[in-house]
Amino acid sequence: MHKRTILRTVAAAALCAVGGLAAAQGTPFKIGLILPMTGQQATTGRQIEAAAKLWMAQNGDTVAGRKVQLILKDDTSLPDVTRRVAQELVVNDKVDVLAGFGITPSALAVAPIATQSKTPLVVMAAATSSITEASPYVVRTSFTLPQASVAMADWAPKNGIKSVVTLVSDYGPGLDAEKFFSDRFLFNGGKVVEKLRVPLRNPDFAPFLQKVRDLKPDAMFVFVPSGAGAAVMKQFGERGMDKAGIRLIGTGDVTDDDQLNDMGDVALGVVTSHHYSTAHPSAVNKKFVAEFQKANRNLRPNFMAVGGYDGMRVIYEALKKTGGKGGGDALLAGMKGQIFESPRGPAFVDAQTRDIVHNIYLRKVERKDGQLWNTEFDVIKDVKDPGKK
Ligand code: PHB
Repeated sequence: MHKRTILRTVAAAALCAVGGLAAAQGTPFKIGLILPMTGQQATTGRQIEAAAKLWMAQNGDTVAGRKVQLILKDDTSLPDVTRRVAQELVVNDKVDVLAGFGITPSALAVAPIATQSKTPLVVMAAATSSITEASPYVVRTSFTLPQASVAMADWAPKNGIKSVVTLVSDYGPGLDAEKFFSDRFLFNGGKVVEKLRVPLRNPDFAPFLQKVRDLKPDAMFVFVPSGAGAAVMKQFGERGMDKAGIRLIGTGDVTDDDQLNDMGDVALGVVTSHHYSTAHPSAVNKKFVAEFQKANRNLRPNFMAVGGYDGMRVIYEALKKTGGKGGGDALLAGMKGQIFESPRGPAFVDAQTRDIVHNIYLRKVERKDGQLWNTEFDVIKDVKDPGKK
């Protein structure tokens, strides 16, 4: 090729690249946020939507010169709807990132779409260990049930609890909680008297609680998804199980900060293990809680809100690292390995597993200034998901 032709070709290519970049920067960066805004998991949707909007209010809606657009879709927590909505967001709206996912079946339903379209899928709520293995494009900012459950199985036998009945919702996260709590509790010399599983949809806890009352273990270990804790607590109290000397323990999902304040005296003294409490005493959390409450008529942020807030941070930082350009693989690379201070405490997106690493706290429900709080009294630092091979 003649020298001048080569030069002209190079110049044209360069112009094209600049033009492409300008076009990319002209189009908004789209985040498809899929949440259960109605139905059984609606509190999760409300919390995460509020948290994502708070993040944007605090950090602006432009990242590295690129306008960020949040497209919120309600999947009613039905996985078939989640899949359809995700497909539309990828094909029609051409979203750059998929995010949200209130329950495990919703996240799993969308994983193949993420893989096929090379779209990062940021899981802000769902917490079954295996979700990150369903697609190399999954990154998680919520937590995992094995992380939360193992800490409780270490605490309980050292605190007078030798026999336990487990009561979990009968699907992914419940089965993880049951397995990781039971295995560790047995290893620590405890006895699991019975393992009970309650349906996820329209659960009737009464017959299960009656069974636990009859078995009379030292404690009942509970996992129910965010939003269902108040019903368990109420019926536990109504049956006088606390008065009968059965303690309630579990992961922090059951003493969910979204509902805790309305649970009443029966919740007092309940010990749980989890990664986030609204009462976490750090400056970052105090600011987060104050601004969240101010923007949402005093609604208390719960652990779902924190998963959403941190998910937005991870997306923003990744977009920044690509200079506003985005692109599935570049964004994914930018998400892996992020270290930051979350309202929950120090957090880290493990580059190998794409799962969150964080502290797990032991907390006890206490009344302070007329309100109920999950007060942290011990911490296990930098807990990786024990469910990973
Ligand atoms: C889940 O479906 O993965 C899930 C939902 C709510 C929780 C925890 C896990 O509180």
